[in-house]
Amino acid sequence: MTANELREKYLEFFASKGHTIIPSASVIPRDTDASTLFTTAGMHPLVPYLLGEDHPGGKRVANVQKCVRTGDIDDVGDNRHCTFFEMMGNWSFGDYFKKEAIEWSFEFLTDPKWLGLDKNRLYVTVFKGEDGIPRDEDAIAAWQEVFAKAGMEVEVAGEDEMITGNVRIIPLGKDDNFWIAGQTGPCGGDTEMFYDMRPEEGVLAGKFGELVDGFRIMEIWNNVFMEFNKTAEGKYEKLAKPNVDTGMGVERTLAVLDGQYTVFETELFKPIFEKISEISGCGYQDSQETEKAFRIIADHVRASVFMIADGVSPLNTGAGYVLRRLIRRAVRYGKLLGIEKDFTVSVAEIVIQKFGDFYGELKKNRETIFAELKKEEEKFRKTLENGLRQFNKLSVASISGKDAFDLYQTYGFPLELTVELAKEKAIIVDEKEFELELKKHQDLSRTASAGMFKGGLQDSGEETAKLHTAAHLLLAALRQVLGDEVFQKGSNITPERLRLDFSHTEKVTPEQLKMIESLVNASIEAHLDVMHEEMTLDAARKANAMGVFESKYGETVTVYSIVDDGARIISREICGGPHAKNTGELGHFKIQKEEASSSGVRRIKAILE
Ligand code: ALA
Repeated sequence: MTANELREKYLEFFASKGHTIIPSASVIPRDTDASTLFTTAGMHPLVPYLLGEDHPGGKRVANVQKCVRTGDIDDVGDNRHCTFFEMMGNWSFGDYFKKEAIEWSFEFLTDPKWLGLDKNRLYVTVFKGEDGIPRDEDAIAAWQEVFAKAGMEVEVAGEDEMITGNVRIIPLGKDDNFWIAGQTGPCGGDTEMFYDMRPEEGVLAGKFGELVDGFRIMEIWNNVFMEFNKTAEGKYEKLAKPNVDTGMGVERTLAVLDGQYTVFETELFKPIFEKISEISGCGYQDSQETEKAFRIIADHVRASVFMIADGVSPLNTGAGYVLRRLIRRAVRYGKLLGIEKDFTVSVAEIVIQKFGDFYGELKKNRETIFAELKKEEEKFRKTLENGLRQFNKLSVASISGKDAFDLYQTYGFPLELTVELAKEKAIIVDEKEFELELKKHQDLSRTASAGMFKGGLQDSGEETAKLHTAAHLLLAALRQVLGDEVFQKGSNITPERLRLDFSHTEKVTPEQLKMIESLVNASIEAHLDVMHEEMTLDAARKANAMGVFESKYGETVTVYSIVDDGARIISREICGGPHAKNTGELGHFKIQKEEASSSGVRRIKAILE
């Protein structure tokens, strides 16, 4: 079965059970949800409805949701973890409950009309009860009933979690069978379905956890029975109406249907691997190393493609930082395969071919996807060379936190990368000291920006200097968001605020303003040094410095540059100063007003908080 057929079957099945089919939400949660960086499960965008709001699609909906989970990033490369994955799900908002959900799961999995999986290879877990919540007898009864209808007597495992004889239902505790997205919100006990991946090894028997760890059985579907809302104080409040939230992994289910042991052996990854093979000249299974590298590259590029299509750009903070890490990790594993030229775009092309029919946004944003990948890959290759040289100098016995921090700050090496490289050489990185260095650095900048609250000791000159630097970052962000036709037309800076006039014909939209603000704040949070050097006007022009080149300046000018950790020039302007020494001193940048200044010129007023 192909992924397209699987998705279609799932949606068709639940449509036949009265569900409204809804589209996947973005991998970036809606604005009002600051609880996670990414959509981590199908239920995530549906939280308001699980808490009682009316869904426009009614009480039953189903979809295939794009998800990103980065907690598993280090597990990518084993046989079942991906940072990006697709989750098929059906929901009941206070409508049907355990009995129907379990009946339909069983029907969809085992009926030859649908997936036609072998019921003899199916095992399920249920919530055994804990913290005053009783064992889920309803779920146990529902499972026993559906198996009985299919002619199978099934029994429940004891405390020892052993599977023997007719045991197919395993009660487990909160760690395994109680589901919540993050810390608070709708939650409840769940029942998970597992499939025997290697029946050829004989009758399945043994301790449940060990069978999972040995990949003998693999989870394919989770039905959560949401009965509570966990509050910020840690209380479980009973929901007015209980809900059903289910999640079935497309990749894992395909692996099961294909009789494959791993999600990477499915048709979703094959063409991506073929491309990596063509570029690298290596085979997927030449060695354990090539296998791991192929899987990581395929997973990370696929995740990056979906993130960029939903509007993420590589940055040093938030979702943008995760994207940056994924792209950089893919490039590094490409290097391990001997790939020295840019390649992520060619891999992305295959991802778009493979997923673009179902997820139209990939085709629509094709050019942006390619441009972002190319830019980040080029930038990282430059950094990587310098950084690796430095790394090799350092890595004799062990790497101190200070050195790791230097690699981070000067060479754009995320700590994870340093640790990973060190592991390959069997040396240790002092991660604790790294965290201390990072904190020290952040505190230093915070003290600097908090200076003004210390009884007005900081003079207004310092405030002005910071706003000057903010104005440079603002101009750079304006050009990045609105285009290279934007030039500065004037500016006025007081100790309280900055004002910048720039060429642009239309009103800047609230979304654009938000992006501009975020870009400036990302540069601030990245704690970038503000460098300056004297040069001739001609040299400044050649160095692509912005500024007024005519009469106003003398022979020698001062050029201020802000360069990010990937050696990308964020801002380079001819300017008399004064400026902050490091963007980290600036605090928080906030746009207060955007208005017309004169024909074809807009004006922004902004402050630093
Ligand atoms: N929300 C449940 C999960 O992600 C279905 O496993």
